[in-house]
Amino acid sequence: MNSAKGLVEIAPGAYHLPSYLTNQEQLQLVIRCRELGTQPTGFYRPTVRGGTKMRIEMLCLGRHWNPMTYRYEPNRSDYDGKAVPPLPADLSTIAGRVATAAGFLFEPDICISNYYPPDGRLGLHQDKDEHPETLRVGIPIVSLSVGNTAQFVLGGMRRKDPTRTILLASGDALVLAGPSRLRYHGVPRILSESGPKELNLNGRFNLTFRRY
Ligand code: SIN
Ligand code: MN
Repeated sequence: MNSAKGLVEIAPGAYHLPSYLTNQEQLQLVIRCRELGTQPTGFYRPTVRGGTKMRIEMLCLGRHWNPMTYRYEPNRSDYDGKAVPPLPADLSTIAGRVATAAGFLFEPDICISNYYPPDGRLGLHQDKDEHPETLRVGIPIVSLSVGNTAQFVLGGMRRKDPTRTILLASGDALVLAGPSRLRYHGVPRILSESGPKELNLNGRFNLTFRRY
């Protein structure tokens, strides 16, 4: 496994970039998430197939991921029918820089931003609803986290494969690409009061940038 300062290869094609964002960039990202999240097309708490409410709040940019159909669409048809806001250039630029640091060229057109309250979590899943060609060639997913630290589990290609836990702290970036693009992953727990006090955020924002 490769390990250079600031870039830890945790599996082939999966990279952890601890403290990628400066304190100032973290604060700026929290402000952006709050701005975007309080617009009329802001965060909402999705209900998945089967009727269970997710333990996070979601806001999609660029395209909406429909938690009922597991498909991307231009409007939030599972919720309020509103048109999904565009993916702002300042956010996609950061994601592109992260990918470059991990050795990939990446131009995202979607961001799914999730707000995890202190008891938030996200079950084990694969990100496999993007275009089949995107998945086939392993175009990266770039993730940015701010606020409380998350226990992030990374598994294999099958749900039952063994998992390992990585702590994603405020300012950390993660890249899942190539042979790791379809690994199962999830967030079983957020560590309370673990984020930088200056962010004034009792929870966590995570943004995953994708290419449809
Ligand atoms: C996701 O899997 O979509 C989000 C992962 C995270 O919150 O770190
Ligand atoms: Mn995911």
